[in-house]
Amino acid sequence: MGNTFLKWAGGKHWFVNREWHRLPVNYNRYFEPFLGGGSVFFHLHPQNAVLSDINQELINTYTAIRDDVNNVYRNLKTHEKKHSKEYFYTVREKKPRTNASVAARMIYLNKACYNGIYRVNKAGKFNVPYGTADTVCFNKSNLSETSKDLKNATIICQDFELTIDMAQNNDFIFCDPPYTVLDDTNRFVGYNADVFSWEDQIRLANALRRAKDRNVKILMTNVDHNSVRALYDNIDGFLLESIERHCFISGTNEGRKKYKELIVMANL
Ligand SMILES: C[S@@+](CC[C@H](N)C(=O)[O-])C[C@H]1O[C@@H](n2cnc3c(N)ncnc32)[C@H](O)[C@@H]1O
Repeated sequence: MGNTFLKWAGGKHWFVNREWHRLPVNYNRYFEPFLGGGSVFFHLHPQNAVLSDINQELINTYTAIRDDVNNVYRNLKTHEKKHSKEYFYTVREKKPRTNASVAARMIYLNKACYNGIYRVNKAGKFNVPYGTADTVCFNKSNLSETSKDLKNATIICQDFELTIDMAQNNDFIFCDPPYTVLDDTNRFVGYNADVFSWEDQIRLANALRRAKDRNVKILMTNVDHNSVRALYDNIDGFLLESIERHCFISGTNEGRKKYKELIVMANL
């Protein structure tokens, strides 16, 4: 499996480990409009890829790793040397200017924070507290490999609809939006409700329907919930499948919890 350099909330490592056989082998260009940590991109290593996300800091980070990996590494080494609880909070408050220092800050905070996961508050500010690691260590060859993987990729900060609309006949879109649902009284619920609205879910379904009609190959992961299913059910050419997943939630009595995920496919 390919190496992701960031651990991202909602990351699709589990999908790549368990469900990789669902991914197509032959396609023209690869599109990932909700990039995050890019688990599926780094698994597939496509030659020709368009990667995008709405998060500007994340896109600057990918761009710096592709174009300026030596400077990213140099900045990471500084973080490695200075690492401490106090230093972590100083870096968390900073807004670096160059793409290389934005990238190093993001990778450092991701590694040194609690549970090693990237999460922002409503204002888009990274808000995860300090983790438990006394030392952090960054490996140059891993970062150089990541840079090589990204060399031919087009990396864009934009809304998903623009990216999906770029895909043409025989391209492949892997789509992993933030998970949100409507409850039984049509109220909008979910952790991501303020970042991905119900209108966004509808826009996404419409954009994927247009792409399907252009013969684009599509694989989307989403919440298995009636409200989401209803957006794709009974539309010619979409295939829906439910898969069960066990997830370990630390700090809860339930321990292992079962989740249902919805896979929506077209032209595969
Ligand atoms: C579930 S995460 C993707 C995780 C990724 N598949 C992985 O393996 O790490 C969803 C991503 O969608 C992005 N996002 C949210 N709203 C968006 C929008 N309107 N357009 C594009 N990206 C958006 C978020 O910034 C986040 O990175």
